[in-house]
Amino acid sequence: MRLGLAENPERPSSLLMENTFIPQLLDGTECGEYLALDLGGTNFRVLYVVLKDGKFVEENVDYFEVPRELRLGPGEDLFDFLAQCLSEFVQKRKLCGRNFKLGFTFSFPMTQKSLDVGILVSWTKSFNCSGVVGQDAVSMLNKAIHKRDNLNIDVNAILNDTTGTLVMGSYLDHRCALGIIMGTGSNGAYIEKVERIEKWLGKHPEKEMLVDIEWGAFGDNGVLDFIRTQWDNAVDEQSLLVHSYTFEKYYGGKYMGDLFREVLLTLAKEGCLGKGGVGKLATHGSITTTTVSTIEKESMEGEQATARKALEEAELEWEEEDLEVLKYVAGLVSYRGALLVSLLVGVLLQRMERPHCTVAIDGSLYRHHPRIRPLMEHLIAKFAPGHPFDLRQAHDGSGKGAALVAAIADRLHKNGATTTTTTTTTTTND
Ligand code: GLC
Repeated sequence: MRLGLAENPERPSSLLMENTFIPQLLDGTECGEYLALDLGGTNFRVLYVVLKDGKFVEENVDYFEVPRELRLGPGEDLFDFLAQCLSEFVQKRKLCGRNFKLGFTFSFPMTQKSLDVGILVSWTKSFNCSGVVGQDAVSMLNKAIHKRDNLNIDVNAILNDTTGTLVMGSYLDHRCALGIIMGTGSNGAYIEKVERIEKWLGKHPEKEMLVDIEWGAFGDNGVLDFIRTQWDNAVDEQSLLVHSYTFEKYYGGKYMGDLFREVLLTLAKEGCLGKGGVGKLATHGSITTTTVSTIEKESMEGEQATARKALEEAELEWEEEDLEVLKYVAGLVSYRGALLVSLLVGVLLQRMERPHCTVAIDGSLYRHHPRIRPLMEHLIAKFAPGHPFDLRQAHDGSGKGAALVAAIADRLHKNGATTTTTTTTTTTND
C-alpha cells in the first residue's frame, strides 16, 4: 500500500492493511446481552453489556492481570486462562450456562479470513506464546471455552483494539471514521472504500470496510531508517521481539521510557548530564513512560518533583541544571511521537476525504500524557489543511467496542449478510 508516505517502491510494504470483515457500523437497532474479552496488554478484561436500540443500558467489567509466564509460555495455557477468567466472570454474575455471543478483542497482527477467524501473524508488545502464530485465535479460544461446562458461548467476532475503538468512537459520534490506540503499542483502523481495495475478491455489495492498518510495523522494510537514531537501535535491541515493529518502538508506551533513558545515558556518558558516571541509567526498564508523561505534566505546571526523583533513583550525582536536561529530553521524545502519529492521521484524513472526521483515540499514552493531544491537534491541522477533524477519547474502546462488534455481527447474521466466506486482500492501490 502507498499511503503517500515515503515508501520505497523497491521494497514491499510492511503494513498488513488487514480486512476486518466489518462492513457496517451500528445502525441503532442492536438489542440484547453480549460478552466481550479484551486481550492485548498485561491487563485482560471481561465485559458483559446490555444494549437497547444500539445504546448501552448496562455495562459490567472485570480486570485480570495476565502473569508474565502466561504471556511467554505455551499458547494453550494462555487461552485456558482466558476461559478461566470468563468462567469466573459468568459465575460471579450468575450467568452460567446461558448462551451469549462474544466479541474478542485480540490486539495483535492477524489475518482475518472472516469476522470470526483471526490467524495470528506475529506476537508484539510483551507476548510471545508458543504454538499460536499461524493459528486461529478464535479456534484456540473456543477449544478452551468448551473445556468448561458452565460456559455456553459463541465467539462471533474477533477484532483488533483499534477496530473496537473506531466502533466505540462511532457510537459516541457518527462522524468517526478512524480509531487509534496510543498505549503500550500503537495502531490505527479506518474506513476504506471497497472500490479502492486492490485484489478485493469479495462479491459483497458493501461500499466500505473497516481496515486494520497495523501501522506499528511501518518501517520494518527500512523506509523509516532515515529517522532511526542510535537510541532507537538500543531500544529495539533490548525489546522482546527485536527487529520488528519499527514505528511502534519509536514512541509506543512500552518503549518511550527506555528511549528517554537511552538518551540520558548517552548524555551522562558524554558529560552533559550529572557529574560523572551513569548510575543506573544503563538498566533497561528502570524509567517508564509514566515518568516521561509526569515530567511533561509537571513542566507545564512549573514543577519538577518527578525529574528530581528520576535523577535520584538513577543514583546519579547531579545538580539543579540537570533537571532542565530531563525536561528537555522528555519534551523531545514526546514531540517526536506526536509528530509521527499526526503524520499518519493527516495522510488518512486526506485519503478518506470526509467533510469532517472524528478520530477516536484510546490508550494509556494518550490518556496520561498532557501534551500529546494538544500537539496532535496542532500538527494534524498542519498536515491535513482543509480536512476538519476532532480528536475524541473513546474510553475502553477496545473492550466496549468488542461488545458492539458482537452485536453488529449478530445483526448482520440475522439479516443474512455473509461475514464468513469472502477472501480478500486489503492492499490498496494509491
Ligand atoms: C500492537 C499490535 C496491534 C495493536 C497495537 C495497539 O501494535 O500489533 O495489533 O493494535 O499494538 O494495542
